[in-house]
Amino acid sequence: MSIPTFLEQASVGSVITNQTESIAMTDTETTSTRLTARDALIIDDVTKVYGGSLCANDRVSLRVEPGEVYGLLGPNGAGKTTLVSQIIGLATPTSGVISLGNLADGGIDLVANPAAARQLCSYLPQAQLPIDSLRARTAIEMMGRIRGGSADAVRERAGALIEALEIGEWETTFGNSLSGGVKRLVGFIMAIVQPGRVVILDEPTNDVDPLRRRLMWAEIRELAARGSAVLLVTHNVLEAERSVDRLALIDEGRVVAEGTPASMKSADKGRLRLQAMLEPGQAPPTTPAFARTQTMVGRRYLLTVDQPDAMQAIDWVRGLIDSGVAEEYELGATTLEDTYVRLIGRDNADEPVTARAPASQS
Ligand SMILES: Nc1ncnc2c1ncn2[C@@H]1O[C@H](COP(=O)(O)OP(=O)(O)OP(=O)(O)O)[C@@H](O)[C@H]1O
Ligand SMILES: [Mg+2]
Repeated sequence: MSIPTFLEQASVGSVITNQTESIAMTDTETTSTRLTARDALIIDDVTKVYGGSLCANDRVSLRVEPGEVYGLLGPNGAGKTTLVSQIIGLATPTSGVISLGNLADGGIDLVANPAAARQLCSYLPQAQLPIDSLRARTAIEMMGRIRGGSADAVRERAGALIEALEIGEWETTFGNSLSGGVKRLVGFIMAIVQPGRVVILDEPTNDVDPLRRRLMWAEIRELAARGSAVLLVTHNVLEAERSVDRLALIDEGRVVAEGTPASMKSADKGRLRLQAMLEPGQAPPTTPAFARTQTMVGRRYLLTVDQPDAMQAIDWVRGLIDSGVAEEYELGATTLEDTYVRLIGRDNADEPVTARAPASQS
């Protein structure tokens, strides 16, 4: 894959090459490293324990290649934000290594060098950015300049992104007068106006309307196409299914499944999902013998069934409607959401996981 010039210029003093390059380690120091365009973000056996007892990340290992969009999915409190915060030095791992490239081959240790990490990675935090007293476009251009872009290049790309995401009518609006969704879009553009080799986006599509979400996903794919390694936290399983190359499912701090969306769904191949919307106040029905898995999510009663059992399933769910237990149903192909529900056992909006002890490090 050819790496275009905008990425080559993305980090201050950092040019993607096989040659030795200089990376700022602190405000005053620099060091040499041998990063190449092929170097991946490597998270190796990372554990993060808060307060001596809450294990927010439990021996997490994953790798995000340049050119790839990698999704992190999991319920509230699973440890996703904790994981991405450690990449850019906002939290320090209790143990484990986070690097860009293999350390043995001249890669860079991002935990030991947080200044370099911030130079090499761009980041959209989960919380809204404090840009109340700045106009939208000023905030975007300022971030581009801080990240080392030239005035002309930043102005041009900021304009292109504002147009692509259709927020031109708010470009001179102050942050404190922006709607939640537009503020999110401004934060997103701030993160990608001068992208690093690694782009970390923590729930970028939150609060954004469905049409602009599509535009965002197109820009996210474009970042990867131009060579960034994109690590993206999301609760939107269906969007992730369409748009990420690979994903990890995190629960209670651990990676419980990893792979492409298709490979993650392979255990559900040949099955259908039956969703019955129960009448308010109805208890879940007795699970029928043909159900392969079943979950209750709010008022949604979800079953997976083998394809040959489809007619039997329809008869059964029609019986629920006739007897006033369910108000409607839907039968269709299984989705990544079914895999998610099977592996996590509850949906995205469910209660946060409770405190737990760290697993022993053998
Ligand atoms: N600074 C902190 N100090 C103590 N505990 C923390 C801290 N930050 C996070 N936690 C705890 O670590 C666990 C993981 O939190 P984290 O924010 O990483 O979850 P998450 O997967 O990003 O959840 P969400 O989807 O709700 O954003 C939670 O139990 C949380 O309460
Ligand atoms: Mg989070």
